[in-house]
Amino acid sequence: MAVHREVFHVITVICLLLSLLLQTCRTYAEELKWDVNGYVLYCPCMGRFGNQADHFLGSLAFAKMLNRTLAVPPWIVYRHHIPPYTNVHVPYNEFFQLKALTAYHRVVSLENFMEKLAPKYWPTGQRNAYCYETAAQRSADKKSCPMKDGNPFGPFWEYVGVEFDQSILFGGISFGAYHQSQWMKKFPASEHPVLALPGAPAQFPVIEEHVGLQRYVVWSDKMVKEGEEHIATLLTRPYVGIHLRIGIDWQNACKMLKSGDAGPHFMASPQCVGYNRQTALPLTMTMCLPDLEEILRAVKLWVKNTAARCVYIATDSESHSSDIEKLFKGKVKVVSLQPDSAQTDLYILGRADHFIGNCVSSFSAFVKRQRDAHGLPSSFFGMDKPGKLNEKEEL
Ligand SMILES: *[C@@H]1O[C@H](CO)[C@@H](O)[C@H](O)[C@H]1NC(C)=O
Repeated sequence: MAVHREVFHVITVICLLLSLLLQTCRTYAEELKWDVNGYVLYCPCMGRFGNQADHFLGSLAFAKMLNRTLAVPPWIVYRHHIPPYTNVHVPYNEFFQLKALTAYHRVVSLENFMEKLAPKYWPTGQRNAYCYETAAQRSADKKSCPMKDGNPFGPFWEYVGVEFDQSILFGGISFGAYHQSQWMKKFPASEHPVLALPGAPAQFPVIEEHVGLQRYVVWSDKMVKEGEEHIATLLTRPYVGIHLRIGIDWQNACKMLKSGDAGPHFMASPQCVGYNRQTALPLTMTMCLPDLEEILRAVKLWVKNTAARCVYIATDSESHSSDIEKLFKGKVKVVSLQPDSAQTDLYILGRADHFIGNCVSSFSAFVKRQRDAHGLPSSFFGMDKPGKLNEKEEL
């Protein structure tokens, strides 16, 4: 009996090991396959997470348009005020599942591309940079792509481990669908296997056609676990999540609205005023920079509408949590975690029963798109129904 059990045990262990090995082989084989239709590489070199996310969706669409595999870059996190006081490059799959993207298009992480494919198929000596002629104008010889000039460009390609050998310039074509055939003709994968670009081949903010790609951006298991733990320990449903973008840099940015230097299309604002320039609604100062009165008005409205028991505040500066607590005379719990990682806020806001965002902020836009993908309701400060002007305040 005992011998039997032992043999059985050994067999189980062997089987387990074999299946593990098989799985490793399979993953390894998948990663090793070179795509003859080529690759797109880029640096997410504009802005913080919200902007990088907008650019990511457009770049994903661009890679699909050219039928090239997208080498998904890491996120650039600027940790200049806290250790390690420098840019941190966070692989895509720390926050999101790389696999979920494959339902839309072929991807490989840039790290994997460099480790497994580049040594053989994109070796040193053949690493071309591609950029607009206008971008090359900035370089000393006016003929080189400014791939590594300044921050975050230099640190990014250092992290990736690339020196560029040559620059290939282009002009007169945009990253939009209109120029698809020009791209294919100008840069066939047989001669230009790797299109490495200094910035995202995409617009900011993300264009309307690509907003829906958000559904392929799915939180990693680790983020879900952490986020759900925070929600379980800090909050009681229903809860309203709000994003306060009110810091000093934002106050300065919103001044451009007041002075008339910015129209209704200002940063992420198409998400609430509409994408069509001709029919865009006016963008008000309250939408850009809600004052305390507007913050309290909107929070009160949505706490009432959803019978919320908690308010979760993500903020870039002040949280106004004591003002909000006072508003409900202590009957509603007010929480502002102010986590180290912005993604924790994004997760908790994304899962709220209602979300109030800032129309102009790409951070809010990320939350809004994510919620739209799951059919969850959102509004904005200064705009209770997205796409519809608020009635004159009656109170
Ligand atoms: C796109 O690329 C894939 C992978 O290289 C290939 O199998 C497929 O045939 C290509 N599609 C077109 C339309 O060229």
